[in-house]
Amino acid sequence: MYGIVVSLALLVGSALGHGMVSSPTPRALGPAAQEACGTAVYNVLKSGTSIENAVKKIDSAYDATACHLFFCRGTQFEDNLSNTRVYKTGTVVPFTVDMEAHHTGYANVSVVDLAAQVPIARLFTWPVYANDSLGPANWPKNETSFSVTIPDLGTKCEEAGACAIQWWWYGTKVDQTYESCVDFTTK
Ligand SMILES: *[C@@H]1O[C@H](CO)[C@@H](O)[C@H](O)[C@H]1NC(C)=O
Ligand SMILES: *[C@@H]1O[C@H](CO)[C@@H](O)[C@H](O)[C@H]1NC(C)=O
Ligand SMILES: *[C@@H]1O[C@H](CO)[C@@H](O)[C@H](O)[C@H]1NC(C)=O
Ligand SMILES: *[C@@H]1O[C@H](CO)[C@@H](O)[C@H](O)[C@H]1NC(C)=O
Repeated sequence: MYGIVVSLALLVGSALGHGMVSSPTPRALGPAAQEACGTAVYNVLKSGTSIENAVKKIDSAYDATACHLFFCRGTQFEDNLSNTRVYKTGTVVPFTVDMEAHHTGYANVSVVDLAAQVPIARLFTWPVYANDSLGPANWPKNETSFSVTIPDLGTKCEEAGACAIQWWWYGTKVDQTYESCVDFTTK
């Protein structure tokens, strides 16, 4: 009986982690995110499930001015300072996405301005993403393995903490959002 319960718990646990960028290593969750989001929300984020599930756990420990769940998934730049890389204009950056369950929706990849919290350049668009009616043989390869080319961003992304590449996926039927952010500078 105990064994069955443990296996079920493991199954449920793995089904929760639906999608994230696995390479380049995205910004990690750490103590700053826990402080900003509150432990209850932080624990849901840590589990890998959707942002909507984290929203359900918002309590008085959640600081709305610091934890932006729908922007880089509430992760904080300060938690992963040594994880900023240099991508000069024209750099081709290969990405891999770890997708555990398919949920039909749409997705895109953008350069985002971290202070203003807005996309400033679209790098990849999937009008349909993770179609759950398709079998593995028909999954488009570029949903989990693709490359983006860094455009000319002028001087906007020269300082660490100014810009990130955000992968964004929304599963329309399940109402689930997944995001990963990769911090970079252009010089
Ligand atoms: C931040 O990123 C670096 C480099 O990928 C990694 O080694 C480190 O463990 C990360 N920090 C945290 C808090 O996860
Ligand atoms: C692209 O991503 C943004 C999040 O940065 C989202 O708000 C927007 O709806 C997406 N658009 C499309 C067409 O996928
Ligand atoms: C998903 O795939 C099925 C089977 O090919 C197709 O009929 C359906 O239109 C696709 N969904 C979307 C949103 O494109
Ligand atoms: C992704 O792959 C699909 C086919 O699997 C193709 O139709 C689509 O154009 C590709 N998207 C981009 C942005 O290259």
